Amino acid sequence: MKKLILSILVMSVIAVACTKSTDPGKHAKNEIDVRVEALLAKMTLTEKVGQLNQYSSRWEMTGPAPEGVDSMALYNMIKEGKLGSMLNVTGAIATCNIQRWAVDSSRLGIPLILAYDVIHGYETMFPIPLAEAASWEPELAQLSSRIAAIEASAAGLHWTFAPMVDIARDARWGRFMEGSGEDPYLGAKMAYARVKGFQGDDLSAENTIAACAKHFAAYGFIESGRDYNSAQIGNPTLHNIVLPPFKACVEAEVATFMNAFNTINEMPATASSYLQRDILKGEWGFDGFVVSDWNSIGELIPHGVAADKKAAALLAINAGSDMDMEGNAYVKHLEELVNEGLVEETLVDDAVRRILRIKFKLGLFDDPYKYCNPEREEAVMRCEEHLAAAKEAAKKSIVLLKNDNNLLPLKKDGLKIAVIGELAESKDVPLGSWRAKAVTNSAVSLLEGMKNTTGSSSINFAKGPDYINGYRSFLTELQFNTTNRNGMSAAKNLASKSDVVVIALGEDCWQSGEGRSQTDIALKGLQQELLEEIYKVNKNVVVVLMNGRPIEINWMAENVPSIVECWHLGSEAGNGIAEVLFGDYNPAGKLPVSFPRAVGQQPLYYNHLNTGRPTNREGNVFWSHYTDQSKEPLFPFGYGLSYTQFTYSDLALSAGEINEDSKIVASATITNTGDVVGEEVVQLYIRDLVGSVSRPVKELKGFKKISLKPNESQKVSFEITTEDLEFYGASGEWKAEPGEFKLWIGPNSAEGLETAFVLK
Ligand code: BGC
Repeated sequence: MKKLILSILVMSVIAVACTKSTDPGKHAKNEIDVRVEALLAKMTLTEKVGQLNQYSSRWEMTGPAPEGVDSMALYNMIKEGKLGSMLNVTGAIATCNIQRWAVDSSRLGIPLILAYDVIHGYETMFPIPLAEAASWEPELAQLSSRIAAIEASAAGLHWTFAPMVDIARDARWGRFMEGSGEDPYLGAKMAYARVKGFQGDDLSAENTIAACAKHFAAYGFIESGRDYNSAQIGNPTLHNIVLPPFKACVEAEVATFMNAFNTINEMPATASSYLQRDILKGEWGFDGFVVSDWNSIGELIPHGVAADKKAAALLAINAGSDMDMEGNAYVKHLEELVNEGLVEETLVDDAVRRILRIKFKLGLFDDPYKYCNPEREEAVMRCEEHLAAAKEAAKKSIVLLKNDNNLLPLKKDGLKIAVIGELAESKDVPLGSWRAKAVTNSAVSLLEGMKNTTGSSSINFAKGPDYINGYRSFLTELQFNTTNRNGMSAAKNLASKSDVVVIALGEDCWQSGEGRSQTDIALKGLQQELLEEIYKVNKNVVVVLMNGRPIEINWMAENVPSIVECWHLGSEAGNGIAEVLFGDYNPAGKLPVSFPRAVGQQPLYYNHLNTGRPTNREGNVFWSHYTDQSKEPLFPFGYGLSYTQFTYSDLALSAGEINEDSKIVASATITNTGDVVGEEVVQLYIRDLVGSVSRPVKELKGFKKISLKPNESQKVSFEITTEDLEFYGASGEWKAEPGEFKLWIGPNSAEGLETAFVLK
């Protein structure tokens, strides 16, 4: 039934959205190539370099502005053909104005390609990507990206800097929230779906936008989770863990890539021709273009690989960075570098060709103003269908972490419910970081959602002490309140008179995101104290967590009966959470990331290597562990409960052996042994027991989400071929190695039925 609702939503959104779209493949590939070549032939070197130059509007920026580029200078440069793209110009009218300037005032009238960070929605906010990955429903990610594209294109945009597909293993990193978590298989499925959602079947349709796979590569592997830091990573990890989601984007025909701020094995990614030329444009045959990250070409100077901007431009163009975002390096120096014979003009031509090709595919040469439609803009933003889809996405992203004695779901009548905590009444925090044009305070708060579901009579609210002191913004550091306890006793008082307490704790939306690395991932401010004080007077506590990264919640996990992981769930957060709390929807999300017991466990991930001393055989300290804390996660990757129970039985393999020409079908029967209908994400893991290099203790190789009524059973099957067993090893090739493999089918990465097979 739930699947049906989702497909109806997908169909209706796509139907509404597609009424004016042009035929797919309107411009055959070679027709576009002919037009690109014809245009290229007319361009001066200055105009070519201009296509590689991208500036932000001067009013919305996430980094420093290049010197001397004020609004006036910007208009002059457009007129002189020295600008190919802008970011952060939004709205049908503003984008139309700037486009008109480019088309009417420049010699060749080449349209600009206009970009924006549309990460999890444009005005209608969907769950942050990490949360959405917890749904384990790529179709849902496709739908939310589709809707984001419908709204963004109606606001005149052609291009989003999404999906962010960085695999992350360290919760200290603030940008964990932007990706799909720690696993390359799940990450690749979500990445593929998001690209398809943004781009649709036809980039030239008026409601599709070009996607951008970022940040290429290994940004999620920066040391100690400190943003913009260096990454050290072996080639097998790069290929087996980091690159698969990027490769999936290429398979989904993503239009663009963005490179990364970080170094990777001492080489800044922006200057890495191994990544951009050898792998991306070479091995993978990517024919779109690569944009730098914000001034990442300029940052080659502080990285210490270029003495000045000219040297930085030389390194970046040679390495395959096609467009310079806010670096002012290409526009200032590339022409000179070509004239001096240091850069082949053919390299510039190649970059220009790639950019023009995407502009043609978007249909910008046929109608540069087709995205400039204020009526459509007015009609689609936060429209009913979009909000309905956002609610669906919100509830499907929720993970039930603990539910002792079936405290949840709550009855809608007859219970006195205390709702506590600043986050519970916030209409802003659920919008999350990287929120594009979400209207401030436009989310449904948890408190509102609960009142909408029950009628207000039984619900009372006490904020408790302030969480944040003063101003909150995406630019500045947050100040947590650690001293002012005003509100504590009122909250305790309310809790003591109530049957059950729902307390919202976790992170402000500006606690995660770019530039938000933390050394401590425990609850901040007075939140832990508030929780313990409340628990003293009422043990029936349900914690609603709102956060953008895994956080440390040991005390809570040990003491309170119910914990619901609700991330930052977007515009409809409160309504989605209320459906779960009151049992209108049975939660089915599973963690896309391991939850640590201590920040000192970071990086923590399920698909680690075994080490030479994985277990405590001798009873002494000389094994791979911590002396002051378990090495295991608090909640493992793939974990999540339901209001019903599922049992796994009858694990079977179609054969005990596999070879290059054969496949194995692995199956298990899943039964709903509880009282209510529920969904389960059935997961398939394997382990390659002996390899030419050490192999992970488990690797996700498949998942299926099923829905079962009470007492209903379903046989779930997965097909395994040798391709699924391949890995990138020390020899620098992908291959599957003969030998024994373990296989599990189960509810998460730590449990499951186990068997084995042999690759001949
Ligand atoms: C971020 C990118 C983003 C760009 C443009 C950079 O600081 O790293 O992810 O797309 O800014 O806003």
